[in-house]
Amino acid sequence: MRAIAIERFGDTPKLTELPVPEPGSGQIQVTIEAAATNPLDAAIASGSLAALGEYRFPLTLGMDGAGVITAVGDGVTQFRVGDRVFGQFWSQPLQFGTFAEVCVVQAAPAFGALAAIPDGLPSHEAAALPTAGMTAIGAIDHMEVPKGGTLLVIGATGGVGTFAVQVAAAGGIRVIATASAQITEQVRGLGADEIVVRGAEPLDQALRRLAPGGVDAVLDTVGDRSVMPGVAGAVRNSGMLLSTAFGLDEQRLADQRIRTANYRLDRKPERLAELARLVTAGAVRPVIGTNLALEEGPRALAGGGKVTGLRGKTVLRMR
Ligand SMILES: NC(=O)c1ccc[n+]([C@@H]2O[C@H](COP(=O)([O-])OP(=O)(O)OC[C@H]3O[C@@H](n4cnc5c(N)ncnc54)[C@H](OP(=O)(O)O)[C@@H]3O)[C@@H](O)[C@H]2O)c1
Repeated sequence: MRAIAIERFGDTPKLTELPVPEPGSGQIQVTIEAAATNPLDAAIASGSLAALGEYRFPLTLGMDGAGVITAVGDGVTQFRVGDRVFGQFWSQPLQFGTFAEVCVVQAAPAFGALAAIPDGLPSHEAAALPTAGMTAIGAIDHMEVPKGGTLLVIGATGGVGTFAVQVAAAGGIRVIATASAQITEQVRGLGADEIVVRGAEPLDQALRRLAPGGVDAVLDTVGDRSVMPGVAGAVRNSGMLLSTAFGLDEQRLADQRIRTANYRLDRKPERLAELARLVTAGAVRPVIGTNLALEEGPRALAGGGKVTGLRGKTVLRMR
């Protein structure tokens, strides 16, 4: 089968031919129809997450995917051959990712989560949901923004950002989003009430104008630590500043006036189920900025395939 893999940490991921993996006890084999990239994939390939778990090589990359179950191992009761599944395919140890024609994953992935694809949802859309969508839901849950409250999303155009704007808007939260000038209307289309155009006005100044009483929370998906002091000053007392991009340093994390966190995605099975519910209800849809064939995956992982509109998710199709 074709797969995008590395032989060791630090390798440049490349398209390669590998044997089709067979499921062991507690595992399922999924014929992947579509996968989606995340910054996590490059982090795993680099070895920067080596301490997080056990890895086997050649390591096929790819966490997010969707496809059809083609075999199940002993002891698997929650899925059957023919089921359509999607999710974050993060087994422990990790060897078989979703950037491949066939993947083997634990039926209950040690670090990820799997679920049935909502009826009628195409596999390329299902593949675009898991990591970024769950992270957006989890981050918003952690921030506890009240209905009618105000949330600033820094980096509203990426995977996490496009989901966060939609999830917050669906929950009755007023959203202020940062975006470049060319795509402000698309970000409004996701549900943002106000846009701060990147480079047009300092962010802290824009926030004083748009939220004179302070914002209830800030979700940072970019990780630019230089903007954090100004942004923190715009959060009301007991409000929250949360970064998915580890944008908060020790000093900022020690702030007593507001709540702060460098957030790491948790409670994945529940968050995947919630994501499926929101998609089924029509409250959230994946924004797919780039659609590529599997062969083009290495270029996508290297940062190629830039879109002209919303960045959203990059999807790899197997055929
Ligand atoms: N901790 C966790 O559990 C967890 C889970 C998921 C993701 N993450 C992290 O969260 C971050 C976002 O993930 P993602 O999947 O949303 O990534 P992404 O799709 O690549 O989006 C990145 C966002 O950052 C913006 N951006 C990049 N460089 C910028 C700059 N110099 N100035 C302003 N904006 C900039 C992008 O805007 P443009 O589109 O205009 O370039 C885009 O909106 C990453 O650091 C990722 O590793 C963490």
